[in-house]
Amino acid sequence: MKKIVRGGTLVNADSIGPADVLIDGERIAAVGHIDDVAEAEVIDARGCFVLPGLIDNHTHMSMPFQGTWTADDYDSGTRAAAAGGVTCIVDFAIQREPGGLQSSLDEWQGRARGAAHVDYGFHMAITSADEATLADMARLTEQGVTSFKLFMAYKGELMITDDLLLSALEHGRELGALVMVHAENGDVIDKLVRDALGRGETAAINHALTRPEQVEAEATSRAARLAHLAGASLFVVHVSCDAAAREIARWQAAGAAVSAETCIQYLFNSIDDLRRPGAEAARYVCSPPLRDRSQQERLWSALRRGVLESVSTDHCPFTDEQKARGAADFSRIPNGMATIQHRLVKLWDAGVGDGRISPCELVALTSTNVARRFGLERKGAIAPGKDADIAILDPREPFAFSTATSHMNVDYDVYAGETASASVRQTLCRGTTVFDRGQILTDPGHGRFVARAAVNHGTPATPGEEA
Ligand code: URP
Ligand code: ZN
Ligand code: ZN
Repeated sequence: MKKIVRGGTLVNADSIGPADVLIDGERIAAVGHIDDVAEAEVIDARGCFVLPGLIDNHTHMSMPFQGTWTADDYDSGTRAAAAGGVTCIVDFAIQREPGGLQSSLDEWQGRARGAAHVDYGFHMAITSADEATLADMARLTEQGVTSFKLFMAYKGELMITDDLLLSALEHGRELGALVMVHAENGDVIDKLVRDALGRGETAAINHALTRPEQVEAEATSRAARLAHLAGASLFVVHVSCDAAAREIARWQAAGAAVSAETCIQYLFNSIDDLRRPGAEAARYVCSPPLRDRSQQERLWSALRRGVLESVSTDHCPFTDEQKARGAADFSRIPNGMATIQHRLVKLWDAGVGDGRISPCELVALTSTNVARRFGLERKGAIAPGKDADIAILDPREPFAFSTATSHMNVDYDVYAGETASASVRQTLCRGTTVFDRGQILTDPGHGRFVARAAVNHGTPATPGEEA
């Protein structure tokens, strides 16, 4: 089956201009002026921007966490993804028990298979330090799971120790796999939380007050230093503040192979959201926490300078009922925000509309850089041979954020009441229209597992070299 996306403005990370796109089956066949092709379906993109499908490399579908499960499964979560122009996610599988990683990967594969509407890959989160676990990094890399996350926080649940982090970095270096870190000092947070609760400070705002910026900056610096020591690649997830971004810049300047992302909530939300009345504040509890509004412009600056190379969502949805677990104790509020659907239109307005980034930079930050960093070789650009993953953005059709327009499986929308100037009109994943003007057209199972290449090779180890 052939399709032509006709008459739009094609935006890649390195170019922008009028161009048609010819799709043959699941791949892009040609880009430029395309003559009519017999029996090809024509998708009219006049007046629209035609972008590579967004990739969200930081999502948590059907994840057991903090005594409950995230509210989106692979069906609902990837519906919402498609409604936001996302054609591929890289989700976090979590090691469930010591003694290896394979059974946890099988569990996550089982949940996603036959359910997803867009393509998906997995990172594996390592939570145990035994030999079998580290040996399984090679086994998973061979299966296309080429990145591993370690949590330096969530003491007593997911948190690892520095010796395991160093071992994982060493294995990652040998395998060409990427080690990712949630960089916050979990021991210090644990103390600050106990202190706050001891003083009777139980409201949601205390989540942010017990996880100050220094706690994130310290862990970021420690992880980068260990990566440099190991000569390994490191990716720091969900950077929330300038103090952490400055640590990353410092180690990048010293030659460490450190890269990093931020997430949309750190660009659009702030600690003030945690002061909202009643149960509403809990919707904004995520880790690292939302920061002072002044941090937002600094994060934009770090993105423009390349210190941060991508913007994901860290979609980790919980309903109001789930969030209410922490009504009397902020430390029991499940951490995470529901945002997977909104990245493109939010970044379009605040990024492109307000002149902070160009349309090409937006594509780089949400698709091209992500594909390159995470070994998604057939994704991240609209070019012959690539998967026909396309987001069509209509700048003339506003999008009203509300629970009625949200496909996410939570009973609120954190941007409800706001309107974006543009909306996602269609989303194509491997040539199939998944989303069209508000409707999901695919059955669960259109999305396929993507085995990713191992593309991360660290720098030669230079023990003793300082940033
Ligand atoms: O609050 C967050 N970020 N929840 C998801 C788990 C994580 O730390 O990425
Ligand atoms: Zn995290
Ligand atoms: Zn996360």
